[in-house]
Amino acid sequence: MNLPTKAIIGTQWGDEGKGKITDCLAEDADFVVRFQGGTNAGHTIGIGDEIFKLHLLPSGILRRGVMAVIGNGVVVDPEELLEEIRMVESRGIAVEGLRISDRANVIMPYHKILDGAEEKSRGPKGVGTTGRGIGPCYSDKISRYGVRIGDLTDKATLEEKINMIFPTKLRLIAAFGAPPLDAVKDIIDTYSSYGSALGKYVTDTSVMINEAIRNGKKVLFEGAQGTMLDIDHGTYPYVTSSSCVTGGICTGAGVPPSSIKEVVGVVKAYTTRVGHGPFVTELTSGLGEYLQKRGGEFGTTTGRARRCGWLDLVVVRHAVRINGITSLAITKIDVLNGMEELRIATDYEIDGQIVKDFPSSISKLVRAKPIYQEFDGWKDWTKDETEKIISNGYRTLPIEMRRYLRFISSNVAVPIGIVSLGPKRDETMYLRNKKWEN
Ligand code: IMP
Repeated sequence: MNLPTKAIIGTQWGDEGKGKITDCLAEDADFVVRFQGGTNAGHTIGIGDEIFKLHLLPSGILRRGVMAVIGNGVVVDPEELLEEIRMVESRGIAVEGLRISDRANVIMPYHKILDGAEEKSRGPKGVGTTGRGIGPCYSDKISRYGVRIGDLTDKATLEEKINMIFPTKLRLIAAFGAPPLDAVKDIIDTYSSYGSALGKYVTDTSVMINEAIRNGKKVLFEGAQGTMLDIDHGTYPYVTSSSCVTGGICTGAGVPPSSIKEVVGVVKAYTTRVGHGPFVTELTSGLGEYLQKRGGEFGTTTGRARRCGWLDLVVVRHAVRINGITSLAITKIDVLNGMEELRIATDYEIDGQIVKDFPSSISKLVRAKPIYQEFDGWKDWTKDETEKIISNGYRTLPIEMRRYLRFISSNVAVPIGIVSLGPKRDETMYLRNKKWEN
């Protein structure tokens, strides 16, 4: 069946610009669905002169008439979600299209406390988490200690669950010497009030999405983080705690694999990562700092400066293979404007051997040296010129930029569908005729 469904997946360590690409493709979509992650995500979207920073709300919320779904695989911090709803409403955005899965797990106050405590106890070997309680919440989900969104709307169940979980959490928190929790009764009352506030949005979202797909609706699955932060396929243990890859859509939204038709891999034209862990093409010289400033590479969620480096195609090929990427969206290529010379890593050299596939071992990665291909840079241009370039099409991009783009596409054997030349909606070049016909 010719399904109009698309997935937007990060091919690097997150922050590739998935929010903007989702927002662009959401223009004609009926549903935008988040399937993993939580408030650790930060999606920045520029509309006119306004900038929206979203953490939990699917980016589709900014498009009128689009259903914005938080799937069961997301971990929901209800306090943050209500705050985000208030923020967008105060800026004139309606949220009646929001739906939240009754099966989604809830981030509880002890998850946030334990996230900080676990990081502290790891000392210099810390993951560098966002401190939003993500890891402890997913751990509780897997060990069947989780509170789900559906529980918040049923006070008796909520009370029973929290009373059962609470003593263990108190012992853990005391063992870590972490700050104490509020009284159990207060937590139950607060979370029950969140349930009352969110109740109108809560439903079985899997039923809804599958019905939409059956009826030929355009459904966009919005990934958060990226393949290299995936719990299985990323640079473990320097990863997040969810499945950020295409496979995560099936479990995190409750849809069969056959319902995912196209997979758009979002590739930033260079590489960044926040937090700790190996990064083979990292630029620790002034060039890294230059990219950080020019690209505004500071975390949307934590404000931390992102580490920057050259584009790494060993990483992107890993992502292409695991996600079944069918087209690429290249973002932030304008950040490279005006640089004299550019590099792209095609392979690694580890202990004298050429390595083409991304290794699983952190100790190997630490020894990996990038093998680079060099490229001439292209001239800078003004913001006004971007408009002209976009309306005149791909051929008006500088020849050196086209060479850079062509190299990426042929090396990873996937066509480019979108080139993003700035943060705004209209700073986007589509290399295919229609956005939903790849
Ligand atoms: P956590 O997801 O807060 O547990 O953090 C685990 C790792 O993932 C840390 O290195 C974070 O910096 C990173 N991380 C989590 N979410 C994002 C994101 O949206 N963009 C980039 N890095 C992220």
